[in-house]
Amino acid sequence: MAASQKVVFLLTVSCLLCLVEGARGYNFSVHVATNAKPGTAVVNVRNLLEPEKPELPCAILEGDPYGRFYVPTNCTVVVARPLDWSVQFEYLLNIRVGQLRDPDHLVVHLKVKVTHVLGYPPVYNVTCETPVRPYSEEESNEFLFSATLSVEAETTAGDVVFLKSTLSKPRPMWDMDPNDPNAVITAGNDCHLRVVFGVHALSDVAIAAELFQFYVNEEQGTFRVTCHEQSETFPDGLFELFSTYGKYKDRLRHLEGILPDVMVKLPNHPLIVMISFVFPTKRATRFNCKLPSTRDREVTMSLDLDAVTTLKHLETITVDINPVGCPPDRYGIFCDRHCICENGARCHGFNGACKCTDGWQGVACDIPKPGVSATTTPSDPSDIYISANVTIHCNVHHLEATTLSLLSPNGSVTVSSAGVSQINKTIMDIQPKDGVAYMCELADTHENVFNATILLDAGNCSPNRKGERCDETCECLQGASCDRWAGCVCPPGWTGTRCQERCPDGTYGKDCGKNCTRCLNGASCAPSDGTCNCTAGWYGSDCNVPCPTYRYGLRCQHTCTCRNDATCSNVDGSCQCVSPWAGENCDEKTATIPEPLVEILVPLASLLLLVLIVAAILYKKRRLFGVVPERVEENEALLELAQVEADLADTVRPGWLSRWDTTSRHLTLGKLIGLGRFGQVVQGTLHTPGGEIISVAAKSVRRKDQQCYRNFYREAAILVTVHEDEHHNNAHSSIIQLLGLINETSQKYILMEYATKGSLLRLLRQAQKENGAAPLAHGMLYAVDIARALRELQRLAITHGDVAARNVLITTDHVAKLADFGLGRDAYAPVKDVDDDDKNRENMAENEFIPLNWMSVEVLERGEYTCQSDVWSFGVLLWEIATLGQEPHYGGNPHDNPSCLRLARTLRRGIRLRRPPECSGEMYDVMMSCWHENPSERPSPDEVETRLLRLTPGFEMETVV
Ligand code: ADE
Repeated sequence: MAASQKVVFLLTVSCLLCLVEGARGYNFSVHVATNAKPGTAVVNVRNLLEPEKPELPCAILEGDPYGRFYVPTNCTVVVARPLDWSVQFEYLLNIRVGQLRDPDHLVVHLKVKVTHVLGYPPVYNVTCETPVRPYSEEESNEFLFSATLSVEAETTAGDVVFLKSTLSKPRPMWDMDPNDPNAVITAGNDCHLRVVFGVHALSDVAIAAELFQFYVNEEQGTFRVTCHEQSETFPDGLFELFSTYGKYKDRLRHLEGILPDVMVKLPNHPLIVMISFVFPTKRATRFNCKLPSTRDREVTMSLDLDAVTTLKHLETITVDINPVGCPPDRYGIFCDRHCICENGARCHGFNGACKCTDGWQGVACDIPKPGVSATTTPSDPSDIYISANVTIHCNVHHLEATTLSLLSPNGSVTVSSAGVSQINKTIMDIQPKDGVAYMCELADTHENVFNATILLDAGNCSPNRKGERCDETCECLQGASCDRWAGCVCPPGWTGTRCQERCPDGTYGKDCGKNCTRCLNGASCAPSDGTCNCTAGWYGSDCNVPCPTYRYGLRCQHTCTCRNDATCSNVDGSCQCVSPWAGENCDEKTATIPEPLVEILVPLASLLLLVLIVAAILYKKRRLFGVVPERVEENEALLELAQVEADLADTVRPGWLSRWDTTSRHLTLGKLIGLGRFGQVVQGTLHTPGGEIISVAAKSVRRKDQQCYRNFYREAAILVTVHEDEHHNNAHSSIIQLLGLINETSQKYILMEYATKGSLLRLLRQAQKENGAAPLAHGMLYAVDIARALRELQRLAITHGDVAARNVLITTDHVAKLADFGLGRDAYAPVKDVDDDDKNRENMAENEFIPLNWMSVEVLERGEYTCQSDVWSFGVLLWEIATLGQEPHYGGNPHDNPSCLRLARTLRRGIRLRRPPECSGEMYDVMMSCWHENPSERPSPDEVETRLLRLTPGFEMETVV
């Protein structure tokens, strides 16, 4: 090819590739971003020149003294080492194309322009410099910081617990790794850590949903916790859980300014968590994060990953941050990023920025910086003490010195011998003279002159010394530091010339400058940080929460021993007995109480009703006059019993209560195992007349009010009906087994078999956490069990009203049993009378947890509970099994709690729960058939059972009796 043709070709290629600009002859120009990673191809020189001759070798001849580029055999210019726009923004590379010995070889002049990239290179910010953790062979479980979360709260079992959890790696839920496509993490030059991630782990979603349900600010769709740093040195940290769904969809866009990747990485997440903190670095710091008030609500927390804890009165989460640092070659919050710093440079724990040693420059400190440096020993100016000796060092870097001299402020000069590249000069008895400058001066072999200056300023006395001439001693206590002028600088909580005294009562903090006003109920305030030290009987961050019912004393550590409905003092555990009980624990009778009223009542039901009505009228009247009868609650209970008996007159045979009656003397109560809207369940042991001891679950009322009693008696009556049916067989039933009833004045219990494995919902969520999406072992069989339970109920014309995984219990033998029968048609009706029923249903979901998403369309619209409406709920139960315990919701947003009628409208439009990803088409067909708008078109429990058995591989069809 002739030379002129070649040039034309080159011009064409350069334009076609659009990589080169301004091509003249063999001159080319390309751009490369300053943050291009080693290995990035800049341009293929051979392609530019002559694509038909691909075998020509290439080599960089000059223009790259520090080896920023290399050219492998394919003749592509590749970035070899980190570039740095601030050190060199243009490289003029001469590249030989062709064999060295080939007289026709070409030399290409390639101008590589390094373009600036905003925010690069990272800046080494000394204010948030972290320690360097010693290197260890094993992967450490520590982050750049150790973070310990502590909470104090009440558990559902009525204990006050102080939970502590230190975040560490690996953490199954901790999926915020920098490469996670769902997370954006920036630990910036400004010492600000921002983590934003989409909530997608199921357990997180459950927790997030719970937080949303209780705390969310409807206006902003946000659950926000602000964390105050105690010393008030750092700005507030923020934990925010927010929705980007529906009307909140623009929220992510607002974050784009500070987190450039956010829209790319998290475009479709309806729930986002953002954590934003300016982190302390050199010392341990405590943040107090105050949660919005939970009142009596319960929150499920996953502090310790092995256990999800349900807590009440959760007010404050204390976060203790302690800088730990990464090993020398690592950085990042997870210490999982590799440092690139060379030549002894220090790598910043936040962002990997390198702090170069003298004589080096560039992003990785691998570009020589010729010149002279001036340093001291000790190197830290604050370690240079009055009257001490300091050595000044002049060092030559990457140059050949002809003369090196040190010029002192008094005019004296120290000169090194020719060729020597270092001067060390010790200054004795240094005195405080502001800004005394020493200068190192270098002349190199090319007669270039370089200099470097260092200011010596001794302002401090040596440790434990103070005064004008540093001739007094401090002798500080409590590890206080000694200041030349101020003397002992006490840590928070201490005062006195030597920090020998605690802050006076009612004050705390640095210089005892803060007043302790928030600690209540006689609590004192910790002198150092103002934390409240509660007195006996109280807990909470302000000591404003009394111990739970069965607890008393300091930190609520003692269990009350009061019996027979006595009130237990939260302070000292003393018992206030209810008549006729007396004694320290209210377990001694002062008078004989009548035989259970019910015995007499059963044959005289109608007479009783009359009496009760009169009693009720009297009771109401007395209340009007402000007189509360002693045995109000018992009357309340009896009224409800009568009401339930009237309601269930067609179902339960008279005398039912006495037939199942057991005495409380045979029951020993244990720990609380369940707490529902109306009832609470404790584990217990029952001594049978035959001398057997069996484990039982004893259910009692949660509150002594009308609704709780009604549910209690209804559940008892339904269970009796089920168990007295001639076809009922405990060995094969999937309804929780009734073992007895206790109906004493002060103690009322339904005794049931104790299902050791707890609720199906708990098992599902646990399986999800442990095994991800794998279906729950026995899940299908549990569904079959519950279909059978529905079959049994249908036969007895009993509706359950709340078929859901939370109400299914699993026994030791993996049998699922339907429980929680207390709910009647009025269970979800408002307590007070309201004329306009429809309006009422419209607003129902707003206040309490009502399982709307399990309800059939006719239940939502008209409160019409039937066997078919239980089948609808059973379909939702199947969905819960398939999703391993997800919360069902229609439409995308789990927090959108529609009213009954809005939800009914959604269902009428044909909208149903979506098919879970892991669920087969056949299984989803079963669910969908349960959700037929027309109740009579839904399958019977029998049909559901048969269809499920067909879908259960290897399961023998059982003959239906
Ligand atoms: N929680 C509520 N009822 C229960 C029971 N019968 N067994 C175990 N846990 C329960």
